[in-house]
Amino acid sequence: MSEVNAEQSGQFRIGGDLSVNRLGFGAMRITGQGIWGEPADRDEAIRVLKRLPELGVDFIDTADSYGPYVSEDLIAEALAPYQSVTVATKGGLTRHGPDVWPPLGRPEYLRQCVLMSLRRLKLEQIPLWQLHRIDSKVPRDEQFGIMKQMQDEGLIRHLGLSEVSVEEIQAAQQVFQVTTVQNLYNLVTRKSEDVLEYCEQQNIGFIPWFPLAAGSLSREGGLLDNLAKQHGATPSQIALAWVLQRSPVMLPIPGTSRVKHLEENVAAAAIRLSDEDFQALSEQGREEGRKKAKAS
Ligand SMILES: NC(=O)c1ccc[n+]([C@@H]2O[C@H](COP(=O)([O-])OP(=O)(O)OC[C@H]3O[C@@H](n4cnc5c(N)ncnc54)[C@H](OP(=O)(O)O)[C@@H]3O)[C@@H](O)[C@H]2O)c1
Repeated sequence: MSEVNAEQSGQFRIGGDLSVNRLGFGAMRITGQGIWGEPADRDEAIRVLKRLPELGVDFIDTADSYGPYVSEDLIAEALAPYQSVTVATKGGLTRHGPDVWPPLGRPEYLRQCVLMSLRRLKLEQIPLWQLHRIDSKVPRDEQFGIMKQMQDEGLIRHLGLSEVSVEEIQAAQQVFQVTTVQNLYNLVTRKSEDVLEYCEQQNIGFIPWFPLAAGSLSREGGLLDNLAKQHGATPSQIALAWVLQRSPVMLPIPGTSRVKHLEENVAAAAIRLSDEDFQALSEQGREEGRKKAKAS
């Protein structure tokens, strides 16, 4: 085992039977600006992906809309046939340009998303497929219904949701087993605490997106500096150690386009905050979030 290893973050069994190391990787940043087109440094993106299994990272989050298609294509190029790596993907968003993501939840489109992700990822079954957004223009039961149908057909092993409320999770649970929920969450953005608590009760994997607040928690000069110094760590590592420690169902997927940052992030798996430091940081993060919300 490499000295730095995601195994140290502990394991979670998605749907009770698909075990992954809790610290994963988000593959949105290996694309162009605005998550549109090819990455600025394609060779480095491939190096990042190939380094994942060496560092024990066996859970990769992607989506057909990242690029679009670029992220899934690069993952397949670097890692297929995957061996011990679980690739989770998402569908249900269209792309009309950089940073533009209109949802489309019509059942025939969701089926196309799954069939095309299978082809691009060179998979016979998608281990975890998540609805990127519930489309408010389409009855949600139609979206949930086609997901269940594709699971029954064997195209998908486990199903998940993204950016949802507790009520929406419960509605989906009437149709299929919800195994993961992916919502915006980090030390300073905590509006999904109720969803996290529900996931804990139900043993649903909670995948916090923007665990580094899109890089703003990685900068020096903020509330993570003191603890980082004490642990001989970086602010990013403390931000990741905090989310990991927040809940046993937490599956953070920090994103990066650089091997150096990947190695730094994975090393967070070995950091344990004392209960006192964890609580103090939780409060400071909440306070910082309140200040930011007031200012905006
Ligand atoms: N479900 C959804 O709606 C949704 C939405 C957004 C994202 N996601 C998923 O969540 C994943 C994580 O979100 P994210 O990648 O947007 O945000 P993030 O993990 O919070 O932060 C990523 C940003 O931080 C920088 N960074 C990463 N590690 C760093 C380090 N050690 N030091 C300094 N900077 C560092 C990266 O730049 P460099 O490339 O320079 O390292 C990148 O710009 C995505 O990759 C995607 O898979 C899901």
